[in-house]
Amino acid sequence: MADRADDRAVLIETPRLLLRPWRVDEAAVQREMWLERDPRVPAHRRIDADGRPALDAFEAGIRASDPSTVGLLAVERKTVSDVIGYCGLVGGSGVREPELAFELLRRSWGQGHATEAAWAVLDWARAAGHERLWASVWEWNVASRRVLAKLGFTESDREETPHGVNVMTTKGL
Ligand SMILES: CC(C)(COP(=O)(O)OP(=O)(O)OC[C@H]1O[C@@H](n2cnc3c(N)ncnc32)[C@H](O)[C@@H]1OP(=O)(O)O)[C@@H](O)C(=O)NCCC(=O)NCCS
Repeated sequence: MADRADDRAVLIETPRLLLRPWRVDEAAVQREMWLERDPRVPAHRRIDADGRPALDAFEAGIRASDPSTVGLLAVERKTVSDVIGYCGLVGGSGVREPELAFELLRRSWGQGHATEAAWAVLDWARAAGHERLWASVWEWNVASRRVLAKLGFTESDREETPHGVNVMTTKGL
């Protein structure tokens, strides 16, 4: 019953958005994002020709996630109550501070949602005691790099990989 309401669940509110844990019946939104991914994204992070990962894999992932950690929170539009993607933090349990990550359905792009959600996650991270965040982005990913620049992330490193150049950016909180 991992999909029950949990009073430890993180809830972040912005003028237009709610950021909160995923519900199992929203797994199809996660799969749709995978389907929409740019062909330059490594194949193991896209839906393959046989339709895998299938919906049940996304459902299992949501059931297994801990609602008390910020993780990759569902981004819900307050006016229409639909989930358009995720924004949140990954990692951070080791030596290095966590990474900011975000991804939205294409139909919601270009309206400032990613930037609005990410600002709220930055505030949350600062309040939780983090002093720095990281974000990695493919060099070709102009929209994501623009979001990170608007948030004040600056490039700290770049790495050549078989999938292209991965740019590491960082921001002190
Ligand atoms: C990155 C992403 C989350 C941005 O979502 P969004 O809600 O459209 O972002 P915002 O509207 O807040 O900001 C996007 C900015 O990029 C700019 N932009 C978008 N596409 C662009 C392009 N092809 N060339 C130049 N600028 C572009 C927009 O104009 C806007 O900047 P502005 O406010 O200065 O005009 C969305 O494109 C996405 O989900 N991409 C696929 C997943 C992904 O790349 N995730 C990040 C992995 S690091």
